[in-house]
Parts: sequence; structure tokens; C-alpha cells
Amino acid sequence: CGIVGYIGKQDAAPILLDGLRRLEYRGYDSAGISIRNAEGFKTTKRTGRVENLRKAVLGSDHGGDIGISHTRWATHGGVNDMNAHPHVSWNGKMTMVHNGVIENFAFIRRELEAKGIDFSSETDSEVLVNLIAFLYEAERDSNGTSDLEALMKSLRGALSQVEGTYGIVLLCSDLPDTMLGARKGSPLLIGVGNGENFLASDVTAFAGRTQNVVYLDDGQIATVARGDFSITTMDEVAISPIINTISWDIEDSEIGNYPHFMLKEIFEQPMAVENAMRGRFSQDNSTAQFGGLNIEPRELRQIDRILFLGCGTAWHACLVAEYLIEKYARIPVEVEYASEFRYRNAPLDKNTLVFTISQSGETIDTLEAQREAQRKGYRVLGINNVVGSTIARENDGGIYQHSGPEIGVASTKAFTSQCHIVAMLSLYFGRMRDMSFSEGTEIAKALKKAPGLIAQALNHAGEIESIAKKYAHHNDFLFLGRQLMFPISLEGALKLKEISYIHAEGYPAAEMKHGPIALVSPDCPTVAIALKGEIYKKSLANIQEIKARNGPVIAITDAGKEFPEGLADDVIHLPETHEINHATLMSIPMQLLSYYIAVERGCDVDKPRNLAKSVTVE
Ligand code: G6P
Repeated sequence: CGIVGYIGKQDAAPILLDGLRRLEYRGYDSAGISIRNAEGFKTTKRTGRVENLRKAVLGSDHGGDIGISHTRWATHGGVNDMNAHPHVSWNGKMTMVHNGVIENFAFIRRELEAKGIDFSSETDSEVLVNLIAFLYEAERDSNGTSDLEALMKSLRGALSQVEGTYGIVLLCSDLPDTMLGARKGSPLLIGVGNGENFLASDVTAFAGRTQNVVYLDDGQIATVARGDFSITTMDEVAISPIINTISWDIEDSEIGNYPHFMLKEIFEQPMAVENAMRGRFSQDNSTAQFGGLNIEPRELRQIDRILFLGCGTAWHACLVAEYLIEKYARIPVEVEYASEFRYRNAPLDKNTLVFTISQSGETIDTLEAQREAQRKGYRVLGINNVVGSTIARENDGGIYQHSGPEIGVASTKAFTSQCHIVAMLSLYFGRMRDMSFSEGTEIAKALKKAPGLIAQALNHAGEIESIAKKYAHHNDFLFLGRQLMFPISLEGALKLKEISYIHAEGYPAAEMKHGPIALVSPDCPTVAIALKGEIYKKSLANIQEIKARNGPVIAITDAGKEFPEGLADDVIHLPETHEINHATLMSIPMQLLSYYIAVERGCDVDKPRNLAKSVTVE
């Protein structure tokens, strides 16, 4: 979900709606806004997109220079106007937006109901705002307490009763000059402006309005006024804020002339991969270097195992890391879903290095897995795209991707950039072990060719669009690839599932015989990657097995004229390159194929149903 709150001198509604539009990729089931005016709060909520809300708000009476807003990805309670945020307390005194999950909400709700408090939604969030408002009434009755003191006390009191996670922004009608925020487990930050301030879940919410950001940590409460702000802990200890300056090019988060962000981001890949490499090769070009790892090469040489953790597409990048690092650096690598690791109490070797991969740097399962590994004393490094994100701030060092904002919910440029970074890591670790100077130079040289190769792959967009149109009506797809191309097949299948709602499965090609081959029929096309090298002939044999069962095949190959004529129904020819680039390069036709199939089926490519860009609830 996305949160944005504003306090300043301007009309809040258009600023909040603009912020919500930018945050919409975090959830888009419903959206809502509360603006403070002379009577109290004017709150409007709408099911569906921010655009629906905008139509309802603009032109109606939502004047006021302080307000909060939210775009929702439902957890508790169905998708309807009532369950949308902000939630206003039963007595109309408070309005609040919330990200996260209050786990003991049912218990607190029963207690409040027993005291006569009415509820109008099914959400856990309404329980929290009602609890704060309930405690506030009691605090205000005590002698000599100012409204602000009473509010802070009731906020602290309520937060100490709830179990779960939250990032909240709260307004109270008695305090026209104050906006409060608190965080535990869900991101929240202050955008520090001139005579105006923001509280938001994500910096993009105030893109173009201020570059100054203060990231809140768990357990902190922000008291924000027009001209200043302060931060305290749950135990009332004052915190000296660190103001970070972020740099952004506002055009990066605008769609430009593209019909979808996803297509824009697919076409940005040559630049994204270039940015991932900038300044990251040694002077003699024989190895990679990473300034942010915060760990001495001598220590890295002691590592005898690496554990990669991530979710979704980032988990596929972890699998790419496993293959490349084991092959080129000969270090054993394990990969685990972050959500499984965090609860599994896995035994880890003393000399294990942990890496988390997360585009957003906010995925709660990855964050908690990182915390769990750190609690056990392991050093955790990260690969993240969003600078200043929670995972990036909490890890012990890492590598920023510098891919620029990724808005399309289905990850494209962030994934290939992760693939390229782990390829560079395999060179880096390899050179610390058995890899020779000449092999290192050869790999570094190959890696630098990736942007040009991606550009060549993108030239196939028109041809892939025609292929997509031919197959878009099918409801089942298989994706097959061997070795390094196995994770790319998984990613190809995930992309198709995510944006076109077609059932798709990725398999290592040879494993297909042990089950999935039963699915093969004229109605189930297979996307098969067959690259030259040791297992090229085996990959061709796997394609034969599908053709023998009348399954249509779309082949992706680098074999050029060597690829047998007539073997596949459609063939996408990509340039031949060093294996180190294969994961990055072969992802491109997969992305384009899913994109054009989804467009052909009339799907909402950038905002696929039920998904959200970053999942900050477990
Ligand atoms: C969500 C997104 C996926 C993404 C995953 C991990 O499920 O829809 O596209 O791969 O989260 O996100 P992260 O930001 O941690 O890479």
C-alpha cells in the first residue's frame, strides 16, 4: 500500500492525489483521502484506481492545507469503499492511514466494542485508529494535559498494545498544525520541504517537491508541523534526524511516449545495465569492484558458502547467482525464499556470507530474513535498487543497482540489472580464487558488451509482437531451459503469469519428461531456450520430444543458421555471446513476449490484478 500525507500552505488535495498516482504501483484496490477543514475532516474513498478518487475529489469541496491519503493493497477485509483508507475514528476526531497488519486486531476490537465503540469497516486499521481515539478521550480528561501531550500519550499507548506491523499517518481534529507518523515494519519517511512537509511510504510520493528525506526507523514517531518536525522513540527519547538528499530525474518516473511503464522499462535496459557497471571494473579490467560491500577482500577469501535470499523475481536472480558463482568462483551457493528462511531456523556454516536481493528494498519477508541472519551474527550484504530503502539501510554493505525507478509491477530492468550484478560478482569472487588474469579479462570484456547486445535483442520487438499475437489465445504455456537458462525459464513463466493471467510453468528442459510433458498438446505452447554449448544437442532433443506430441514451440536460440530448419514453429534468434551475459540477454525476448501477449489480451500490464510492486506485509 502507499501512504502520503501533506502539511503546508498549499491546497493539499492535488498534491496528495499527485503523490498517490506515483505510489499507485504499491497497491491499487482502492484509494482515499482525508483533508482537514474548519468542520473536521472531509474524507472520500473509492474502490479501484486513484483516477476514480481523483474524479470524486476534484471539483468537490476538499479545500485545506493538511491531509492524508492512501492507495490500498487489501489484506484484511474485502475491496470496497468502506474498507479503503483513511479510517476515521468513531467520534470523528481522528483520521488515519495504515500500511501493515495488526495481528491482534480481533481481540482489541472486541474490547472496544464492549466499551460501546462502533466500527464501520472490517479492517485491522480501523481498530488502531479507534484505539488511539479511545485512549485520547481518557488522556484529555486528565488535568493539565495539552492536546498534543494527550495525543502523543494515546498514540504510544495504542502502539504498545498492538502486535504486528505498521506505518501510519494520523491527524487529530484538535490539532490543526500537526501530522503524526509512526513506523514498525512498514516504511515511512519524512519529506522535508520549505514551509511544508510530507510523510510518505516512499520517496516517489513527493518527487519533484523536495529532495530532502529523513528515513524513520522502527519504533520511531514523527511529529510534523509546517515549518519543522521532531522524532522520538516509543520511550520518548528524542532522535537527531539525519537529512538525506536524494537525486532524481523526475522524467524517470514519468511514462513519456510509451503506452506502458513496462515497455519503457524494457527499453531502458541497455542503460540500466550500463549503470550497474559504471565504475565497477578494476583499472586493469581483470575483475569487478564494488565500493559498498564494506568488507575486506581478505575476509571475503575466507567465505566458504554464500546464501542468497529473495522473493519473486529477485529469487530468480538469486538462482542466477547460484549458477554463475558456483561455476566461475567455485564457491558453494544456496538459494532460499526469504519467507521460508525467516521461519526455518536453518543451520548455517560459520563462514557463510548472506546476500539479500530486493529491488524495492522493502519486501517484508526479505527484510525479516535479513534481520534473522543478522541476529544470528551473519554478515548480510544486499543488492537493491531503491537507495535508502530499509533493507539497504539495515544491511552490512551492498551494491546499489542504479536502474532508476521501476514503476511497472512486473520487474524487468531491475531483474536484468540484478542478473548482471551477480555475473559481475562471480567475476569478483572468481578472481579471488582460481580464475586466471586472462579469463578475468575475457569475462570483464564480455560483460561490458551487454548493453549493446540488449539493444540488439530489443530490435526483435516487432517480430516478437507478431509471435505474441499468434499465441495470445492459449491458456497454458511451458517454459523450458537448462542450467543457467532454468531460472530464466522460471522468470519467463512468472512474467507471463503476472501480467496476462495465463497459467505458465518453468522447468529444466530435461525434467519435462517427468511430468509436465503430460501437458503438451496443440493447446499448450512451449517457449524453449536452446543455446550453443555443451548441452545444445540435448536441448534440441527436448524440443523434438515436444514436437512429437504436437506441441507448438517458440524457440529462443543463439545458434543462428545452425538451428535446424523447421524444428520449432517460431524462432527468435539472438546474438551469440559469452555465457556470463546469457541470463541478462535471454530475459529480453521473454519480457517482450509476455508484454505483447498481455497487451493482445487487453490486460492492464502495469497494474496486474491482485499484485503490488512491493509487498510490505508477510
Ligand atoms: C512483489 C512483486 C514482484 C517482486 C517481489 C519482490 O511480489 O510483485 O515483482 O519480484 O515482490 O520484490 P523486491 O522489491 O523485494 O525485489
